[in-house]
Parts: sequence; C-alpha cells; structure tokens
Amino acid sequence: MSAIVEIENLTKDYEVGFWRKRKVRALDGLSLSVERGEIFGFLGANGAGKTTTLKLLMRLIYPTAGRATILGRDIGDIQMHARLGYLPENPYFYDYLTAREFLEYCAELFGYGKRERTERARELLTLVRLEEKSWDKQLRKFSKGMLQRVGLAQSIVNDPEVVFLDEPMSGLDPVGRREVRDLIASLRGRGTTVFMCTHILSDIEVLCDRAAIMKRGRIRHVGTIEELHKRAGESSRMEMVVAGVEADNLVQKFSSFKGTIVTSHSGGARIELADEREVDEALAVVRSACGRLISVQPVRQSLEELFVRDE
Ligand SMILES: Nc1ncnc2c1ncn2[C@@H]1O[C@H](COP(=O)(O)OP(=O)(O)OP(=O)(O)O)[C@@H](O)[C@H]1O
Ligand SMILES: [Mg+2]
Repeated sequence: MSAIVEIENLTKDYEVGFWRKRKVRALDGLSLSVERGEIFGFLGANGAGKTTTLKLLMRLIYPTAGRATILGRDIGDIQMHARLGYLPENPYFYDYLTAREFLEYCAELFGYGKRERTERARELLTLVRLEEKSWDKQLRKFSKGMLQRVGLAQSIVNDPEVVFLDEPMSGLDPVGRREVRDLIASLRGRGTTVFMCTHILSDIEVLCDRAAIMKRGRIRHVGTIEELHKRAGESSRMEMVVAGVEADNLVQKFSSFKGTIVTSHSGGARIELADEREVDEALAVVRSACGRLISVQPVRQSLEELFVRDE
C-alpha cells in the first residue's frame, strides 16, 4: 500500500481580533498518512480542527507551518486537485439553479461534453437517491438533507481518486444516513480513497478502516478501528445471554462472582462477567439452574471512551 495523503507537521494559526493580532492555534503539528483505498475517519469534538485540516488540504486556506501531499503531489499542485472530490461542511450552492443544472454545471467545469454531462448528472442524482421529482427544483427550495445529497453528488462528479467529506451525514434522516453510508462503502468498492470528518462514532465504526481521533488540534489516537477499540481498554468483560432461567433465580447464584451484573433479558437473563476466565464456571452455574446458553461475547468498549477520555 502506498500513502495517498501524507500530512507532515501541519500547523494552522488563525489570526483573530480586530487587529488580527491574537493567534488561535487550530491545528498543532498534525502528521498523518492515509493509504490507497482506505476509508479513513477523522474524528473529534467540535472545534478539534477537522474542518481546518480539510480546508488546508483543499488549499482554501494556507498553513502556518508544515506540508502535505496528495496522490504524491504537493497540495499546491492545481492539476492534482482535479483528481479530488470535496464535500464542504456547509456547502453553498447556486440557489437559483436546479439540482440537475447544478450538477451539469459541475460536470462542465470538469470538461464533460454536453451529452456526457446530462448523462452524468442523471447518474449522480440516481446514485445519491435524490427523488426524481426534485431534480428540476431550484436548490433554494431544498431541505438540508436534500442539499447534502446534492453536495455528495458534486463531490464525486469527476470520479475522484480521493474524496474528502466534511460531515457527510449532517442533516440526514436515519434512512438518508443509511443510504449515504452505503454510498460511501460503494466508493471503496470502486477503489476511491475516502477521508471523512465526523463526530458520529457509529458511522466510523461501521464504515472506516482506520481513524484518527483529534483533540484541540492534535492527534490523540490513530489506528484501525480494532486497535482503537483495544486502546479504549477493551476490558476482559464477557456478556452471556442465557434462556430458560429467570434473572431473579440467578442473582443469588452469582453473588460469589465479583463484579458480575445479572439482568433480565427476553426469555432469560443477561450475565455480564468481570473476567473472561469465569465463563466456564458461569456456564456450569447456568446449567445447574436448568438454563441454556444462547450467546457469549466480549463486551466491547465503545470508541466513545477514547473520545471523551482526556489524556
Ligand atoms: N476562520 C476562523 N477564524 C478564527 N478561528 C477559526 C476559524 N475557523 C476555525 N477557527 C477555530 O479553529 C478551531 C478549529 O475549528 P474547526 O472548524 O477546524 O473545527 P472542527 O473540528 O471542524 O469542528 P466542528 O466539529 O464543530 O465542525 C476552533 O477553535 C475554531 O474556533
Ligand atoms: Mg468542522
């Protein structure tokens, strides 16, 4: 695998205040690489520096220090940018164009001929599942979720090699989120590298191969989702679900198991053991109470643990 996005020591100070004398460090020595074909999640609380990073990579703002390359080219290389896609955090579109006209216009900017761009707009609007009856409506009449879909469509109009998405799920209803998740997953299927910012942990867990967790302009954690889960302190707690026995009947029997939580579960009980080494013994207890095992699995610490932990 080769790095598609390579970021070295990227730093950004915003100058604020009336005289622009005060500096706010939004990004502090960020170094990171993203491999070809990955879906990379860029995670962090509000104000962590995610959008700033994307804007720097898109060359919309300039770094105070550091450098970055995309597809092996410096981010200052304009031709390279034609091979990228970008969904801004708050996409601003031409209000009076219809969805179809807007996408045709985007396709034109990328050099598509007249017939091709009509076809391309149709393809994209279908792909992002915008209802056909809205294709010829002006964008100013669109809801947030509909605009988000148009934004996604424009971000892949040129079939980019790498696409940068800033909060792609923002404003979408649950069905929309599922559809956009599928769309992003399908991009990977086509070999597109995806770099997406979000603070929605479940999207990262479902979609991403690797993720970085940002805090106040710095990377706190980076790794595969599996590695991040481990770092979150995947405890050795185990969850057993059993049937044929009531939780009330088990509570007493498990009183000698330290730190064990027994709760009722449909048709049986859920037993959370403090240590995986207790599984055999616990199973014997369940059987002695005429219960049967339905499932046993480790209790996964959520990424939220890393997200909120302040190290
Ligand atoms: N144009 C600007 N001028 C001054 N400060 C800015 C500017 N843009 C961002 N900042 C500051 O930089 C920091 C990082 O902001 P950024 O927008 O990159 O965060 P973010 O991780 O994208 O947050 P969110 O999840 O809310 O979108 C914040 O402290 C923010 O106040
Ligand atoms: Mg942001």
